[in-house]
Amino acid sequence: MTASDTKNQPARAIARPNIALIKYWGKADARRNIPAVGSLSITLDELATTTTVAESGQDVFLLNGEAETAMATRCFAFIDRFWSGDRPRLSVSSDNNFPTAAGLASSASGFAALTVALDAFFASGLPTERLAQIAGAGSGSAARSLYGGFVRLDAPTQADDDISLRPVAVPADFPLAVVIAITSEQRKKVGSTEAMQRTAQTSPYYSQWVAGQDADLDAAEAAVVARDFERLAELSEWSCLKMHAVMQAARPGLIYWNAATMACMQRIRELRDEGCRVFFTIDAGPQVKAVCSPGDAERVSHELAALEGVRRVLRTGLGAGASRVAIER
Ligand code: PMV
Repeated sequence: MTASDTKNQPARAIARPNIALIKYWGKADARRNIPAVGSLSITLDELATTTTVAESGQDVFLLNGEAETAMATRCFAFIDRFWSGDRPRLSVSSDNNFPTAAGLASSASGFAALTVALDAFFASGLPTERLAQIAGAGSGSAARSLYGGFVRLDAPTQADDDISLRPVAVPADFPLAVVIAITSEQRKKVGSTEAMQRTAQTSPYYSQWVAGQDADLDAAEAAVVARDFERLAELSEWSCLKMHAVMQAARPGLIYWNAATMACMQRIRELRDEGCRVFFTIDAGPQVKAVCSPGDAERVSHELAALEGVRRVLRTGLGAGASRVAIER
């Protein structure tokens, strides 16, 4: 089939969330959604967003089968920015097999799956790095979900340049498990864009945060390449705590943690003292991601599930980048 044969045919893509070990927080260019700092992430496996794009009588966005007007506005503004012109009206149907907008990186898998589905629908044939840059305009962390395993994103050094991305290791190179402790299923009150803006404008620590990032990225990449779990653990917890310290020092301070979040952090450190290979990381939400060696995942899941305030735990390995999925007819 030629590109024109496949153009405007229904298209589907799957993408998984990713979790940053060296965190992204802050924008260099809010209009283009260009991050002020690079980041290093792991793409997850079992959690996924599946998105289908098809021609329709009107533009409609469905999340888990229900019409979502706020997300529809964001979705179609994104589509018109990158696939403008005389496009047909579209139905975009997105399904998450995990809670949305609660700090589980649903915007990352969401924009990554949407971008790959649109590329297939419009038969654009764009290379992966360009798709990652486009997805990153929707949500900064989404760029990383185009790739699997360990992914490094570098922020541009000059205005007008774009982000660059590079897979650092595939899952089989350094197998890890991730146990996610869900401590609340509510949507977060302050979204990451507003929170980053407030941090950059009011936190006295923001410039130091930005200045230290490249050294953290280089050190973490070296730890991944060397398969050095202890070093990666130390760097990742430090990056997480620094990011939360910077935002907690904004005015008013941004606090995404609850009591169970703290309990998980403490327990994870105790488990490490007891010989478990495990460390924590936390995004702009109350869930705790415990990254561990696959052999320790059972114990970590059990221990975190037993803590007061932990509603449930999810367990996953590392997974692949976003890809197109065939639609059965
Ligand atoms: O992709 P955004 O704009 O939702 O930003 C996500 C930022 C963090 O999840 C807190 C950190 C990261 O690097 O993913």
